[in-house]
Amino acid sequence: MFKKKIDTQEKMVELITNRWSGRAFDEKKPVAHQHIISLLEAARWAPSCFGEEPWRYIVCDKTSNEAAWGKAFSCLVEGNQSWAANAPVLILALANTVFSHNKELNRWSQYDTGAASMSLCVQATSLDLMVHQMGGFSAEKAAELFSIPDQFTSMAIMAVGYQLPEDEITAEMMERESSERQRNPLAEQFFDGEWGRPIR
Ligand SMILES: Cc1cc2nc3c(=O)[nH]c(=O)nc-3n(C[C@H](O)[C@H](O)[C@H](O)COP(=O)(O)O)c2cc1C
Repeated sequence: MFKKKIDTQEKMVELITNRWSGRAFDEKKPVAHQHIISLLEAARWAPSCFGEEPWRYIVCDKTSNEAAWGKAFSCLVEGNQSWAANAPVLILALANTVFSHNKELNRWSQYDTGAASMSLCVQATSLDLMVHQMGGFSAEKAAELFSIPDQFTSMAIMAVGYQLPEDEITAEMMERESSERQRNPLAEQFFDGEWGRPIR
C-alpha cells in the first residue's frame, strides 16, 4: 500500500507511521492463510487485564469460506459494503464482557480487544496488507448469524486485503484514498500532570 506523509512532532516506529485505513482493496489478490495466522498471532500476544485475553476473532476468508464471508458482509452498513465488497477477508472482532476467574464484569475487555486489534493492524502493515476496521455494522445481526454467546460483544468488522495497484484505483476512489491523514494537536488531548494542561 502506498505511504502517506504525516505530521508528527517526533519520529515514530515506521509500522505505526505507515498504517492507515485504506478502502481500495484488490479483490483478485487473496491473503495467504499463513499471513492471516500471522495477524492473529500478533493479536494473541497483546496485553490484557488479568491476562484474560478477552478478545475473540471470527475470520471470514472469501477464498476458503465464501458463506462465512457473505454473512459478515451482510452485517455491514451500505456505505461500508460499497468498498468492503472487494476485501478478500473480513474479520469480526468480539470482546468477552465477563472475567473467567470470577464471572464478574470485565470493564477492560473492550480496551484489551482494541489493543489486540491494533497489534493485528501493525502486523498487517509489516506484510503490506491493509486493514480497515469498521464499527458500521449490525452487531445484532452478527450475533444472530454467527450464534454468538450473550456475554460477547461484537466490536468491529475488519476488512483485510491488499491495496489495488495505483493505476487500477478509480479517480473517485483515489481522491478518498489519497486524502491527508489528520489528527488533533498533541497538546489538545495529551496532558502534563493534570487534566487539561497541555504537554509540550
Ligand atoms: C472502531 C473503529 C470503527 C471504525 N468504523 C469505520 C466505519 O464503519 N467505516 C469506515 O469507513 N471507517 C471506519 N473506521 C476507520 C476510521 O475512520 C479511521 O481509522 C480514522 O478515520 C483514522 O484514519 P486512519 O486509520 O487512516 O489513521 C473505524 C475505525 C475504528 C478504529
